[in-house]
Amino acid sequence: MRHFLTLKDYSKEEILEILNLASKIKIETKNRVFKDYMPKQTLGMIFEKSSTRTRVSFETGIYQLGGVGLFLSSNDIQLGRGEPMSDTSRVISRMVDMVMIRTFEQSKIEEFAKYSKVPVINGLTNEYHPVQLMADYMTIQEAGLEKNLIVAYVGDGNNLAHSWLMLASKLGFELRIATPKGYEVQQNILDDALEFAKESGAKIIIGNDPIEAIQGSTVVTTDTWVSMGQEDEKEKRLKDFDGYIVDNKMMSRAKDNAIFLHCLPAYRGYEVSEEVIESEQSLVFEEAENRLHAQKGVMVWLDRQLKK
Ligand code: CP
Ligand code: NVA
Repeated sequence: MRHFLTLKDYSKEEILEILNLASKIKIETKNRVFKDYMPKQTLGMIFEKSSTRTRVSFETGIYQLGGVGLFLSSNDIQLGRGEPMSDTSRVISRMVDMVMIRTFEQSKIEEFAKYSKVPVINGLTNEYHPVQLMADYMTIQEAGLEKNLIVAYVGDGNNLAHSWLMLASKLGFELRIATPKGYEVQQNILDDALEFAKESGAKIIIGNDPIEAIQGSTVVTTDTWVSMGQEDEKEKRLKDFDGYIVDNKMMSRAKDNAIFLHCLPAYRGYEVSEEVIESEQSLVFEEAENRLHAQKGVMVWLDRQLKK
C-alpha cells in the first residue's frame, strides 16, 4: 500500500503520472463533469494546525470524487488529549478509506502511516508539504514553463523549501535556494536531494544571496518567515529576514516571463510586497486552485494503487 508522505518516496514517472491524472480530472471538473472515481469513500482529515486551502480543497475534492470528508480537528478528537497516534491510526483507519493529516513532526505522520490500514496523505508537517508542490508544479506546467525551468526559492529553509528540494531533485530541474544565515534547509534533506539529483540531473544551488538566486530564474517563490508553531520566534525572525522580501526590484532580476508563486497565506510587506503578489506575474490564486485538482489526482492515484 502506498502513502503520500513525502515526494522522496516517489519517482519522476509517478509524480508526472499523478499530475497527468490531475489535469484530466481538472478538465472534467471545469466542465462540471464529476465522475465517481471514489464512490462512498470517506477521507478522514486530521488537523493539528490551522488551514484554509488544505481543508477546503481536500473536503471539496473527495466530495467531487463521490466520497465524503470528515474534518477532525485535534482540538475535538482524543488525539488532542493525548491518545497516541498509533491508537488513533488503528481506530480511524478501520472506519475510513483514506486519511489526510496536518501535524508537527514528520515522525508523527510516519507513526500514523505505520499503523494505518489505509493510505495516508501528508497535508503539511514541519518538514514537508508535498501536496502543495504537486499544485505548484501543475501551475508551472500550465504556464508552459517546464522547459529550462529555474526555480528561485527565497526565504526560510522550511517545509516548503524542503519540498522544493524533493521535487527538483526528482524531476531534474534547477533549484536555487537563498535563505538568511541560520535558516538553511536541513542537511539530511539536502543530502537526500543531492543524491536524487545525481540520477535526475537536477542542479541544486544553496546560498544566502536572494538576488543571485533570482537572477535569470523563471519561477520565483517564497513562503512565510514564521511558520505555524514558530510564533514565539516571530520578532527575531522578522529582523533576521530583513532584505529577503520579494519586491519589484527583486522580481526584475528574474526572466521577463517569470512567474511568482506562493503557497499562501502570504504576509504582504514581509516575504512579498503587495505589488508583486498583485502583479500579472503572480499566479498565486491559480496555484491555490490547483490544490483541489492536484490532490484529487493524488487521492485517485493512491486508490488505484490499492486495486492493482
Ligand atoms: N498552502 C496551504 O497549505 O494553505 P493552508 O494552510 O490554508 O491549508
Ligand atoms: N511554512 C508554512 C506553510 C503554510 C502553508 C507553515 O508551515 O506554516
